[in-house]
Amino acid sequence: MKILVATEKPFAAVAVDGIRKVADEADAELALLEKYTEKAQLLAAMADADALIIRSDKVDAEVLDAAKNLKIVVRAGAGYDNVDLAAATAHGVCVENTPGQNSNAVAELVFGMTVMMVRNLYNGTSGTELKGKTLGIHAFGQVGRNVARIAKGFGMEVSALDPYCPDEVIEAAGVKPVHSVEALYEGNQFVSLHIPATDETRRSVNYDLITRLPKGGVLINTARKEVVDEDGLDKALADRPDLRYVADVKPDNAEALSEKYPGRVFFTPKKMGAQTAEANINAGIAAARQIVAFFKDGDRRFQVNK
Ligand code: 3PG
Repeated sequence: MKILVATEKPFAAVAVDGIRKVADEADAELALLEKYTEKAQLLAAMADADALIIRSDKVDAEVLDAAKNLKIVVRAGAGYDNVDLAAATAHGVCVENTPGQNSNAVAELVFGMTVMMVRNLYNGTSGTELKGKTLGIHAFGQVGRNVARIAKGFGMEVSALDPYCPDEVIEAAGVKPVHSVEALYEGNQFVSLHIPATDETRRSVNYDLITRLPKGGVLINTARKEVVDEDGLDKALADRPDLRYVADVKPDNAEALSEKYPGRVFFTPKKMGAQTAEANINAGIAAARQIVAFFKDGDRRFQVNK
């Protein structure tokens, strides 16, 4: 069995060592394609792979066509909007993710970026604190729950909206459930996005929602750029000089926004949320173990293209 790890943005070396160990123990061959720049490199590397581990790497019908032996793709991470699920199903390929494995890393970055923004990007002027402020968590999944835990350490008042999560689960975390998206934005100075990019959510965080934020509102996006309506965001920042936006998922209009609203927007140059040794080890090794379990026991617990 051959496992290909194809990561345009590589895992930490220590995570690759861990993946290799799992592969060795299962008598599987491990191939590594890191920092590739052309799709052709991925297509060539796929040719004889039985299993594929990826991060945000795009897997579409062409990639699947190139992989005649492929049985399983594991996205080492949470969001699988980079994989064409319908094409995978048509090719008889199982697609899995590794939920929860990198969520603490992303949640920590939420606060890294938020503190930096409320301290005026460390420009030497007086900023504000997070203690006693309101935080709305937009989707209470694995990342949202870690964000809630850390927010409470800062002494924030935390609310969450998640129609797919029972109120009791939200309440058990000491968080107030909110039942409408409008109420979430109106009631919280800080809103942190943790919704996946789906047909339902794309561009759903629009001008109307963003401008519902109270005075001094800060929108934090460590989820996906696609969930924010970029024109609406631009207009909201223009109409409301008190609003700020920080994102680990750089919008397409990042350059224009940075020019127009200096000191009020911040974008990491490359998505860094899951870029820690711990997250790479957790997600990478989980992916390798899921592949071994798939081939050994037919385990499809984490399949997302059902
Ligand atoms: C995820 O969906 O798991 C995160 O966005 C991390 O993505 P990455 O593996 O590309 O850093």
